[in-house]
Parts: sequence; C-alpha cells; structure tokens
Amino acid sequence: MRTQVGIVGAGPAGLLLSHLLHLRGIDSVVLEARSREYVEQRVRAGVLEQGTVDLLNEAGVGDRMRAEGLPHHGIELRYGGAGHRIAFERLVPGRAITVYGQQEVVKDLIARRLADGGRILFDVPDVALHSLEKDPYLTFQGERLDCDVIAGCDGFHGVSRPSIPEGVLSVFQRDYPFAWLGILARVPPSSEELIYSRGDRGFALHSMRSPEISRFYLQVPPDASLDDWPDERIWAELRARLETVPGFALAEGPIISRDLSAMRSFVAEPMRHGNLYLAGDAAHIVPPTGAKGLNLAVADVRLLTAALAEFYATGSTGLLDTYSASCLKRVWRAQHFSWWMTTLLHTLDDDDPYGRRLQTSHLDYVTSSEAAATTLAENYVGLPFDFGDHP
Ligand code: FAD
Ligand code: PHB
Repeated sequence: MRTQVGIVGAGPAGLLLSHLLHLRGIDSVVLEARSREYVEQRVRAGVLEQGTVDLLNEAGVGDRMRAEGLPHHGIELRYGGAGHRIAFERLVPGRAITVYGQQEVVKDLIARRLADGGRILFDVPDVALHSLEKDPYLTFQGERLDCDVIAGCDGFHGVSRPSIPEGVLSVFQRDYPFAWLGILARVPPSSEELIYSRGDRGFALHSMRSPEISRFYLQVPPDASLDDWPDERIWAELRARLETVPGFALAEGPIISRDLSAMRSFVAEPMRHGNLYLAGDAAHIVPPTGAKGLNLAVADVRLLTAALAEFYATGSTGLLDTYSASCLKRVWRAQHFSWWMTTLLHTLDDDDPYGRRLQTSHLDYVTSSEAAATTLAENYVGLPFDFGDHP
C-alpha cells in the first residue's frame, strides 16, 4: 500500500489532518489502534477556542457544531464565598468559546472522511514506524504502508514519539500531586456558564455538554480509584465545593459516565525527526484546567497542512523545516497558561497557608484588575493563529 501521508492515530489531530490534507488534494491513510466505537465514545474535552471553531467551519465540518454547540461569552471564578465573572464580550470583544464535546468533533470528522472516500483503518494495535530518515513506512498486521512522511498523531501513550532514537528529543515535564475525576450526568446545567471553583476541599469545575447533560470535575488524590467514589460521595463533594455562594443549588441526576485523568505538563522538542512530524498530545500535553489540549492539536495540524501543501505544490521544505519552531511558540504559551490556571485553582498542599494566601491574592487581582482579567480572557478564548509571527 502507498499514500502520501501516513497518519498514526484517529484522535482529533489525526482525523482533522487527514481531512485538511484531502481539501488540498493530498492523500493520506489513518491507522488507529482502537475501534471506531471506542474513539467515538471517549469522553474528554469540551471547550473549543474561537480559532478552532472558525477552522472547523471553514473546513466544512462545523454544521452540527453550529447547531448543537453552546457559545459561551464568559466563565465564572468562584472562591472565598463569591463568584466573579470573566466577561469575554467586554474583555476580548468578538471572541468566545464553544462548548461541544470532543467525541462529537471526532464523530463529525470520521463521518466526513468516510463520506469523502477517506481511508481510516480501525483496530490496528500493532503499528510500527520504520526508516524515519529516508523512505519512511509503517507496518501493521502483516501489511506495509509506504509514504512520503509520517504524522505521529497518536497521543501521549502512542508509538510515534518512542520511535525517535534516544537522545534526539529534549523533554520538559511536570507532574501534579492530584488527578481529576470527571463525570457526565443526565441533568440540566445548574449555571449557564462554566464555574471554576477553588476552595479548601479542593478544586471543582461545573461544565456541560447540552441543555440536558452536565459535566463535572473534582480534584482528587493522584492515586484515587473510581471505586472510592460512589455516586453519593461524588454529589456530596460537588455540593460542598460548588454550593459556596448564596442562592446556588446544584441539580443532581443519574451519572452516565465517569473517568479519571492524570494531571501532567509535558513537551518534547523538536516536534520533528527526519520524515516524522509529531502533532497534538503525541508531542505535548497540558493539565486540562486551561482547556487547551485539543485546541493545540488543531493548531499543530493547521500548520502541518500548510507545510505539506507548500511541499507538494512547490517542492519547498521551508514550512516543514520551521513547523516545529512555529508550533512550539503557541505550545509554550499554552503550557504557561495551563500551569498558571492549575496552580491558581487547586489545593497544592494541605499544609501551606502561605501558598493559599498567594492564590487568594492573585485571584483577587485577576477579578478586580481589567488588565489581569483581559490576560486570562485572551488566553482562554485562544490566541490568534498568527500569534508569535510578529516580533
Ligand atoms: P488523542 O485524542 O489522544 O488521540 C490519539 C489517538 O491515537 C487515539 O485515538 C488513540 O487510540 C490512538 N493511538 C494511540 N496509540 C496508538 C498506536 N500505537 N497506534 C495507532 N493509534 C494509536 N482540551 C481542550 O482543548 N479543551 C478541553 O476542554 C479539554 N478538556 C479535557 C478534559 C480531560 C478530562 C482530558 C483528559 C483532556 C482534555 N483536553 C481538553 C485535552 C484533549 O482531550 C487532548 O489534548 C486531545 O485529545 C488531543 O488530541 P490528539 O488527537 O492529539 O490525541
Ligand atoms: C469540559 O467541559 O470537559 C471541560 C471544560 C473546561 C476545562 C476542561 C474540561 O477546563
């Protein structure tokens, strides 16, 4: 088998790359370890930046997102017994976020690729990468796929990054001493906007997927198990952490899914080795507090598409050569923002009154200074795609 771009992983990065390449007349094959059902049901991100929404619309895969996605023009920071709104419409006019589940984006992209005759091979868990320096190829289940370049879009635990010889990549990382327990519940959201709540019992996040489905997260110990968290305990803890302002009552309903996520910051540089280009979580991850991971994956594949389109149209490797450095400007900005949001809102150490005072002081600053609130809002809705291009 032969294709121009061999893509490992059918997450948002791999699927969107395959679609954007198709729009430019470039052929690709996507190899995915898991089943179609599995990738379409995996509950993860919910917040799409303005630039992500614009790109999905321009690429012709935004119909359902426009119909069912929920545009949000602000978020609430809740702490010290009060809620404080960060008003995007005032602070960053014309920019907003859209709440639309990652698995819905994945479903839309798979449907569109298949309708366009795209090749996505599911259930191939044994993909291996070969000959990255020259004439690269992939093998799986006794088959061989020759390609001009390989796109490693297989997430943090994938096979692409570990295929790069030892000593080539520089790795930067930080692990946090807590995890997130996430649930989906069949109950209307208790607030119109997302609530990021910081308190002595730990962080909680109120989010949503639709007018009927709410999404919640709780900061839990890093070694927590789902068995430790029966439904009553989850609701009691959500109430204790969210019902902290007068008049707010949390609506409860049946829990329809639950998951645990480690909290980690990670960057591998450069995002290229020979003819292998890494994109999305395969190259970098952020703790979800800033809602940046999926949006970074989208920004990476946008640049990779432009670079490959230039290469196939003119033979120039100019944009391919600058791909990694261009991505990393945005990646590091998002690393800082995600680390900052995380350390601002979580209980880092039960016995650190000095740290708590610093958090409160900084939250007071962010919620009372227009300049500080604008910094949060600008990063949260997402920096423009040409961020970093101008000195
Ligand atoms: P993935 O989604 O991980 O996709 C990689 C694909 O590769 C998977 O389908 C996997 O099965 C496949 N694969 C793995 N190994 C192999 C292999 N060996 N061979 C073939 N295929 C393989 N981001 C946001 O922007 N906004 C949010 O609100 C947000 N909230 C989040 C909440 C939580 C709880 C979590 C955990 C993450 C959140 N994120 C958020 C981050 C976001 O989900 C990820 O950044 C995003 O999934 C990255 O997409 P990706 O395509 O790079 O990787
Ligand atoms: C979500 O709705 O899943 C979500 C929202 C905001 C975040 C992370 C996840 O920061």
